[in-house]
Amino acid sequence: MSGEKKTLWSGRFSEGMAESTLAFTSSLSLDRCLARYDVLGSMAHSRMLARQGIISPEDGEAIQDGLRKIMAKIEDGTLPIQERLEDIHTNIEYMLTDMIGDAGARLHTARSRNDQVVTDLRLFMRDATLDTLDAIGLLQKAIMDQASDNLETILPGFTHIQHAQPVTVGHWLMAHFFRLQRDAERLMDAYRRLNISPLGSAALAGTTYKIDRLYTSSLLGFDAPCPNSIDGVSDRDFVAEYLFAAALTAVHLSSLCEELVYWSSSDFGFLEMADACSTGSSIMPQKKNPDVAELVRGRAGAAVGDLVNILTTLKGLPTAYNRDLQEDKPAVFATYDRLVPCLRMTAAMVATVRFNKDRMLAACKDGFLNATDLADYLAMKGLPFRRAHEVVGAVVRYAIDNRKRLEELTLSELRRFSDIIDEDVFSILPVERCVARRTSIGGTSPEVTPMQLSQGMSVLRRQSDFIDRERSRIEKAFRSLM
Ligand code: ARG
Repeated sequence: MSGEKKTLWSGRFSEGMAESTLAFTSSLSLDRCLARYDVLGSMAHSRMLARQGIISPEDGEAIQDGLRKIMAKIEDGTLPIQERLEDIHTNIEYMLTDMIGDAGARLHTARSRNDQVVTDLRLFMRDATLDTLDAIGLLQKAIMDQASDNLETILPGFTHIQHAQPVTVGHWLMAHFFRLQRDAERLMDAYRRLNISPLGSAALAGTTYKIDRLYTSSLLGFDAPCPNSIDGVSDRDFVAEYLFAAALTAVHLSSLCEELVYWSSSDFGFLEMADACSTGSSIMPQKKNPDVAELVRGRAGAAVGDLVNILTTLKGLPTAYNRDLQEDKPAVFATYDRLVPCLRMTAAMVATVRFNKDRMLAACKDGFLNATDLADYLAMKGLPFRRAHEVVGAVVRYAIDNRKRLEELTLSELRRFSDIIDEDVFSILPVERCVARRTSIGGTSPEVTPMQLSQGMSVLRRQSDFIDRERSRIEKAFRSLM
């Protein structure tokens, strides 16, 4: 396996590949993280070959033995990499053959790099998906804890960044929780389509050897072999699906972080980020900056970019393997490496943020957040809501002109606009009452938000059961393979 120009396909070539071509086509800078999965895939494949009598039991044993040694090197970080071998798959196969001779050269029987590479990537993506789910759960947990501590903490709710109606911090936080729940559900759903074995698709057409695809699929803990070998080597839907779910998660994080950023500004002062999650300024000594939240918000851009990257790479590609498919890796690895720390850091920020209750409550006094409640009051007394809306509009205009809040107007001032207003109006105007009375399902009242929390609890349990079940299934499969 020495020979300067030796490649996997050198038989057909009379001259060696140019250095520049090797450098241009190599994926070694990207795919080292697939090493473990490549060994596992080869373990399953070679076991199947021996079981089917396609290779001898002795060769099968030698391959298993060699692969185990390679795995040990991967695990202790001593795997030697030969840069002149274009990818991690070639490196491992050559290393094996160097170690055990001809038996190693038999490993690639009834297999192509086309099915090998995509099998490895699916194995990697399974773990990546579970890690992502885990990190989403961590953030959801932090959100739930803060929400249950702040079921009665009132802040102004905004639409168009204008004061709208008062809500509670718990209610607002749970809005973020349910976004993340959908993200987690998308990943769990995508996992069903991800956990399919392409191994045995070979180059594209299947193989003449009597292989057992069901066996390799179950050895690797997949749910089933893919039903079509051409699709098996072409399909990167699982990459696109992960990248979409991840991009949307990143967009959700950016929205949460946006609120953390501007609510922590001194103009709002609704919350203070823990020192541990903040940074300072090199010139302005007074500054405490929300850089972490800003970076999470900023990194959502790259996540969207990675999604566009893969969709554009896949667009118009003919079926079966095309080298373009090597380019699935940068996007997916980058998104995974970026998103999980973003989730963890956001969880840390949420867990340690301190809410300034007085400041938020004070902010609720301005901006007529109780105007809807006054309109509802009139409607309840029989005035059609559209009329009531108009009446309250006029009351608000009057209050602005006279620099008063609605609750500061006297009964006779109010009655100038509608004579159905009575003394009892003053019991519905305080913001606490506005919040407490919104008891509709999903509403902001502390009476009903606990319902969301218990829903959240069972969601979290379902997610962590899923992660535990799949992780232990993978671990069990891999343990019996090794
Ligand atoms: N490094 C390549 C990849 O990641 C390996 C597959 C090359 N296969 C081929 N038929 N040229 O996609």
